[in-house]
Amino acid sequence: MSKEQQIDSLLHEERRFPPSAEFAAQAIGQASLYEQASDDREGFWATQSRELLHWHKPFTEVLDWSNPPFAKWFADGTLNVAYNCLDRHVAAGLGDRVALHFEGEPGDRRDITYAELTSEVKKAANLLSSLGLTQGDRVIIYMPLLPEAIIAMLAVARLGAIHSVVFGGFSAESLRARIDDAEAKMVITADGGNRKGSVFPLKAAVDQALADGKTSVEKVLVVQRGGNEVEWTSGRDLWWHEEMTPMSDDHRAEAFEAENPLFILYTSGTTGKPKGILHTSGGYLTQASFTHKNVFDLHPETDVYWCTADIGWITGHSYVVYGPLANGATQVIYEGTPDTPHPGRWWEIIEKYGVSIFYTAPTAIRTFMKLGREIPQKFDLSSLRVLGTVGEPINPEAWMWYREVIGGNTTPIVDTWWQTETGAIMISALPGVTSTKPGSAQVPIPGICVDVLTEDGQQVGPEAGGLLVITEPWPSMLRGIWRDPERFQETYWSMFGTRYFAGDGAHLDKDSDVWLLGRVDDVMNISGHRLSTMEIESALVAHPMTAEAAVVGAHDDTTGQAVVAFVILKSRFAGTLSDEEVSHQLRAWVGEQIGAIAKPKRVFVVAELPKTRSGKIMRRLLRDIAEGRDVGDTTTLMDASVIRTISDSVNE
Ligand code: WT7
Repeated sequence: MSKEQQIDSLLHEERRFPPSAEFAAQAIGQASLYEQASDDREGFWATQSRELLHWHKPFTEVLDWSNPPFAKWFADGTLNVAYNCLDRHVAAGLGDRVALHFEGEPGDRRDITYAELTSEVKKAANLLSSLGLTQGDRVIIYMPLLPEAIIAMLAVARLGAIHSVVFGGFSAESLRARIDDAEAKMVITADGGNRKGSVFPLKAAVDQALADGKTSVEKVLVVQRGGNEVEWTSGRDLWWHEEMTPMSDDHRAEAFEAENPLFILYTSGTTGKPKGILHTSGGYLTQASFTHKNVFDLHPETDVYWCTADIGWITGHSYVVYGPLANGATQVIYEGTPDTPHPGRWWEIIEKYGVSIFYTAPTAIRTFMKLGREIPQKFDLSSLRVLGTVGEPINPEAWMWYREVIGGNTTPIVDTWWQTETGAIMISALPGVTSTKPGSAQVPIPGICVDVLTEDGQQVGPEAGGLLVITEPWPSMLRGIWRDPERFQETYWSMFGTRYFAGDGAHLDKDSDVWLLGRVDDVMNISGHRLSTMEIESALVAHPMTAEAAVVGAHDDTTGQAVVAFVILKSRFAGTLSDEEVSHQLRAWVGEQIGAIAKPKRVFVVAELPKTRSGKIMRRLLRDIAEGRDVGDTTTLMDASVIRTISDSVNE
């Protein structure tokens, strides 16, 4: 099927799954939310914010958009984000409620109540401030998914400081780049974490990142987890457990302005350098908590929620840490991989804890689909009542499998579209209201306005494709790129003025439902994780063997896209190694430079790359080749025979 035919069949999807009358009647998010928001959008967000959060000093201003694209929400109010996630629940008598059911990969487990979590965060806040951390300082968190990672995030937030979580799968090089860009004062890490049955070292990568001593980092706090041996730099390194023991759990949360920065999260853009996406406090927490409650139909007294994302990604920030904890939810967190020690581990966890709301990525669903329904069918999944998906488009086939096999043919599925930049869910069904449609993210949530435009800013109307934009500012929007206001303006606001350009292609069907069609820029989406073609190309050409490199995201049945690299070797290396050996070395190199997630699935050694007359690499043609299609229009190519040569060598 061609891409066009595929899109066409998607858009004529006739299956509809309305919520059951029973579900609709008890649903938290009702249709009236849409009316309230369209009557008075800012008033709607103000009401939500007042109802969902504890404001130390109530705000009187809602949105300040006088200097676009720099928005301020609830600017004259003050609050403490950690207080909102912890203390107030304890004060409301919910201290004994489990906040975290932690499941370690080796099978160890811990239940942590809101009272215990609050007390741990207070101790950690005392520890961090005794080490000199104050408002506005940056802390890098480089950890496995452990309760301590969440405690660290909340302790940093409690002090009005800024965390930047770096996914544990990123290399020492990537870590160093983020430490430098954020000028972090401290790193919180672990000796190691459990993954696929063995321990992967993290502290060692921190040591490597800081090895030259030319760094802003003063202290490294190390949580003991892997039990692996670590090297120690005295004066700099401290064991978390040793430092925490003497700390008092008495700590008063100070209120900070609504626009106080909460975190920086680095994500890939179209250039080689990751962008430090900046989020602030009041607006972010409002939308994270609103969406978590309404999109997942959270009944905090009875639900057990599980989002499988790592805290290294935005999904982990908004839907493992801030949304669920602000809402007083009980949730599962799991340290390891889905297939350890057996391929039914996730389903076993759902059965064990009685998980009722489950949120994961299409890649995971497609992987399980391939393994066969016999595996989940061995477990009792009847506790599930809402399923969510995020990170990449979900094909209708995977959607249907998810509903039938995991959801027992009854649970609503919410396909949630959003981005690191948007901070929280933007487009999604509401499970008690929307009649869902397999494959479409459907409608903007109440209070959010989106549109699909042509490149010159015209509305495309129903049954047409274009670029997705967000037409009005929203509470959890990014406030900028860390120390790079120009890049912020250029990336998101130079296309359509005060309308935000998301970087995604989208299509509206005849019901005006939105279908996401993937990135329109040089950003790839591999298993729901964002990677930049340029970043991987830069890594490849940094290898002594490589003269030139081009990277594309090619379609992959499981991971959505896969990284495919085309490289030209420097003449003195050409022919010295087999293509297999080159591929092996370059993949390992990219793993060291960026992280294992960025390793190309395939590396093709070629003699030339297709370029336009102005010297631009034509990635579109390379994608055609990588996906095994006939190459499209080559008229703008400098030398059309290049394509023949490349496809011949690829087909060999
Ligand atoms: C990009 C953002 C949002 C958390 C995870 C990814 C793609 C995200 C969907 C969806 C189709 C989706 C978009 C977007 N994306 N959710 N439901 N349907 N595409 O966050 O790393 O910032 O990536 O992920 O292309 O722009 P991210």
